[in-house]
Amino acid sequence: MERREAGSLRDSDIGSRARLQAWVHRRRDLGGLLFLDLRDRSGLAQAVVYPEEQPEAHRVLEAVRAEYCVEIEGTVVAREKPNPGLSTGAVELKVERAEVLSESEVPPVTVDGKIDASEEIRLRHRYLELRRPDLQKNFLLRDRVTLETRNYLHENGFLDLETPILTRSTPEGARDYLVPSRVHPGSFYALPQSPQIFKQLLMVSGFERYYQIARCFRDEDLRADRQPEFTQIDLEMSFVDEQDVISLVEGLFARVFPLAGIEIETPFPHLTYAEAMAKYGSDRPDLRFGLEIAELTDILGSSGFRGFKAATEAGGVIRGFVVPNAAGASRKDVDGWVEVARRHGAMGALTLRKREGELQFQVKRVLTEGELNAAAEALGLEEGGLALIVAGPEATTAKALGALRLELAAHYDLIPEDKHAFLWVTEFPLLEWDEDSQRYVSLHHPFTSPDPRDLELMATEPGRVRSRAYDVVMNGVELGGGSIRIHRSDLQQRVFELLGISAEEAESRFGFLLEALRFGAPPHGGLALGLDRMIMLMAGAPSIRDVILFPKTTSASCLLTAAPSPVDDDQLTELGIRKLPRKQGKAEPAGEESGG
Ligand code: AMO
Repeated sequence: MERREAGSLRDSDIGSRARLQAWVHRRRDLGGLLFLDLRDRSGLAQAVVYPEEQPEAHRVLEAVRAEYCVEIEGTVVAREKPNPGLSTGAVELKVERAEVLSESEVPPVTVDGKIDASEEIRLRHRYLELRRPDLQKNFLLRDRVTLETRNYLHENGFLDLETPILTRSTPEGARDYLVPSRVHPGSFYALPQSPQIFKQLLMVSGFERYYQIARCFRDEDLRADRQPEFTQIDLEMSFVDEQDVISLVEGLFARVFPLAGIEIETPFPHLTYAEAMAKYGSDRPDLRFGLEIAELTDILGSSGFRGFKAATEAGGVIRGFVVPNAAGASRKDVDGWVEVARRHGAMGALTLRKREGELQFQVKRVLTEGELNAAAEALGLEEGGLALIVAGPEATTAKALGALRLELAAHYDLIPEDKHAFLWVTEFPLLEWDEDSQRYVSLHHPFTSPDPRDLELMATEPGRVRSRAYDVVMNGVELGGGSIRIHRSDLQQRVFELLGISAEEAESRFGFLLEALRFGAPPHGGLALGLDRMIMLMAGAPSIRDVILFPKTTSASCLLTAAPSPVDDDQLTELGIRKLPRKQGKAEPAGEESGG
C-alpha cells in the first residue's frame, strides 16, 4: 500500500485503508484506548487504537513516546467529535497494524506546543526544533518563493549564473571573511559580501540579464534582521534605467507575496531620500502609520526660547510630529522619549500639548500666542494631542524624530499588524561624510552612478551629489537596494578619487573592473533583495533566524557544529599561518551594512 501523507486525510477517504509513516506528535492514553497525533511534513492526523480489537498494535503503540518514528496502517473512519481547527479533523485512522521505525530519546526541545528550552539548547538541537510545524512552514514558504522567483525571472529573460565564492574583497561596507590559501602562503581569498563586481562583469560579457540566489558573507554586528551569511535574490540588467529595474521588482513582488496571502498593489509609492528623511526621519520609513514630521524652523526659529534660537542660528532645524490623543502622557513616558532622542544624537525633545483648548508648551512663557498657534497649525495638533519637538542640526534632528516616531507608534499601538506598506526610496546621496576617517564614503557602494544632473557638484560640493540608487522598503525594513551603475572607466576613476581611493589603490583593488569598463561596457543596473528578510516579513516571523535553517548566534557562532573552531597547528603551518597571543578586551566596532 502506498504511503499517505498524514495531512492529506479527508472525509472523502472514510472507509478506505491508509498507511502512514510519521512521527508521534502527541500520545494520549484514555484508560486503554490510545490516541496518537501523527505528524509528517504535510500536517497532523489522529490515529486511534482499540486494545481489544488490535492487541498487537496496541502493545506496540503503548510503548511509543513523543518523537518516535512509526508506521501505521488502518482504516479511515469518521471522528466522533470532529476538530474543525485541523484540516484532517473530520477523520481518524483506526489502527490495525503498527511498527516502530525508530525510537527517540526524550527530546531536549519540545516539538509540540510551547517553546520551553533555552535558545542555546534549541540551536544546539536545531534539527529537532526544525520539526516544529510553526518553524517548518517558514521553510515551505521559502521554497515556494524561490521557485516562483526563478520562474518569474526565467520568464523575463534572466539567466541563472553562478559567481565565485572564493574571490577578492567586494566593497559592501562590512568586514570580509577571509580564507587562507595553502598554495599561496600568506595570501587570502575573501568570501563575497555580494556578487556585485562579478554581476557587472557579466554585463560586460554580454549576458544582458543575470540573476542568482546568492549566498553573501559579511562580518558585521548582528541583530534581529542580520546574519553573517545570508541570501540575496541578486539581479543585474543591461540597457535599462531605474524604472525598468523598479517595474521588474514590483512584478516579482506581485508574484511572490500572494504566496503568503499578501496581496500587493503596484506601482509602489516613491519618496526621495530627502523627503523620507524630512517627513519620517528615516531612509526606510514605516508607512503603515502616519505621525508625519512637520517643519517648524520658520515659525519657531526666532522665538524667545533659547534652545530654538541657538539651533537655527547654527544652521539647524526645528521639527516635530503629533500623536493624537496622547496629551495625557506621563512624565515618566516623556522622560523616556527624551532619552531616545538623546541616544540618537539630539539634545532632547520638548512637548507641546493641547488640552481643553489650551496649547501648553513644556517650557512656560517663552513662546507667544501667535507662535503657539502657528506651530499647532503646522503640526496639525488638535484637542487631546501631544507634539514632540526636536531642534538641532538637520541630520541628527531627523534621526531622533525618526526614532521617536517608531517609539511612540509602538507605545500607542498605532501600527496595524495586518497592513503592509511598500515604497521605493530614491535619489540617495552618493557619498556620506565619515567623521572617524575624515573622508567621504559611498552610501551604497562605489559602483553606483552619480545622478547626471549633479555631475558639476562632484568637484565643488561632493556631499550634495545625488546617486541613481534606489531601495525597496516594506513596513520599515529595507528589503533590497540597487542602482544604475557607472559604466565608464573615467567616471568610475573619478568616484574612486572622491572616496579618497588613490589611483594605485584603485588599480590594485579594482583594476580588473576599470579595465573591463574600457571594453564597450553596456549601460547597466540592478538590485539585490534580502531573501531572508523578505521571508521573515512574509511569514510574520520576529527574527531572521526563524527563516534560516541553521542560523548563527549574535556572536556569529553555530552552536550545532561548534563553528568557528580552532584548527590543528599542522593545518596552520601548511597554510603559513602563525597564531598571535590574543589581545585583551579590544573588540572593534563592525562596519554598517552599506557603509561603502
Ligand atoms: P545591500 O548591501 O543593500 O546591496 O544588500 C541588499 C540586501 O541584502 C540584505 N542584507 C542582509 N540580510 C541579512 N543579513 C545581512 N547581514 C544583510 N546585509 C544585507 C538587505 C539588503 O537590502 N550589491 C548590492 C546590491 C546592488 O547594488 O545590486 C548589495 O549587496 O535586505
